[in-house]
Amino acid sequence: MPLARIKATGSYVPRKRLTNLDLEKIVDTSDEWITARTGIKERRIAAPAEACSDLALKAARRALKAGGVKALDLDLIMVATVTPDTFVPSAACVLQSKLGASKAAAFDVNAACSGFIYALSVADSFIKSGRCGNVLVVGAEVLSRVTNWQDRSTCVLFGDGAGAALVGQAPDETGGIISVNIYADGNMGDLLMIPAGGSRMPASQDTLKNNLHYLQMSGNETFKIAVKTLESLVRNTLEASGLTPSDISLFVPHQANLRIIRATAERLGIPMDRVAVNIDRLGNTSAASIPMALDEAVRSGRVKSGDYVLLEAFGGGLTWASALLRW
Ligand code: COA
Repeated sequence: MPLARIKATGSYVPRKRLTNLDLEKIVDTSDEWITARTGIKERRIAAPAEACSDLALKAARRALKAGGVKALDLDLIMVATVTPDTFVPSAACVLQSKLGASKAAAFDVNAACSGFIYALSVADSFIKSGRCGNVLVVGAEVLSRVTNWQDRSTCVLFGDGAGAALVGQAPDETGGIISVNIYADGNMGDLLMIPAGGSRMPASQDTLKNNLHYLQMSGNETFKIAVKTLESLVRNTLEASGLTPSDISLFVPHQANLRIIRATAERLGIPMDRVAVNIDRLGNTSAASIPMALDEAVRSGRVKSGDYVLLEAFGGGLTWASALLRW
């Protein structure tokens, strides 16, 4: 059976840069602390008029152009996000309208930072089953809108952006999405959450006053679970396909913290020159980080036909996921 494959990629970052020095003026922090603890130097912030679907649209158009596919030829659009324009309609439906992709079904995927790989796994299944020919998978976030700009433990971490992948059938069995693996443990959901604004705690004066519509994270605890989980996730993914870390030409991890990325790469024996990093320039962009890093690697010629590329993510839910691709 032919595999599904990523045929083309695209990405978009908002223009406005917010540097660590800018943040020093907002909260009690320092460039030195942020750089040493996270690897982040600056992040992008969406313009006031830009919502999730606006970022997604620009990334999507670039992916469609690179793939030579028209919006009308899309069968399915998924947007992985925790910051959709609105709960209803979904960001994917708004994007479908903006693209004029009137034949495509559309829905959002909420798996936090693992969202892009979760959505990729859905695309993989729809294509392999023959139900879809062209699927657009977008990771898009405007995290600056759910960031508490008075909380130094989180506001230094996040950024806005979007990445897109056009997924279709591979021409033969030699390349494509070899495996996609998705996991969750809802018992640890409290570690990373936006407490208010849903049906559990609807918006009220009280929730607004207490900053409960902002993202909260137990960073240190999540960090330790992430490092432990990611090493075995990658090892199991490779072993299942009879590969070892040395076979990987490009490792594209979710960009939560440079220390997590380095620790994972080091434990696996993958040198940093084979690791895609954008966290220094973009911060943690949740579901957008992997497709943006992948697009950068593809456009700079870092990924070549026949290369093994490994994607991995860990995030709120908790969720974690991996994908092994042969380019
Ligand atoms: N500037 C200066 N000091 C800060 C700070 C900031 N922006 N944020 C926190 N601190 C302080 C804390 O108050 C604490 O001070 P104390 O020791 O006096 O109490 C100290 O720095 C250490 O805080 P801690 O939270 O233990 O730091 P850390 O090394 O764990 O780094 C994160 C914090 C958030 C950068 C890190 O835990 C992380 O990146 N976690 C990622 C989690 C993850 O993977 N999430 C899933 C995907 S999104």
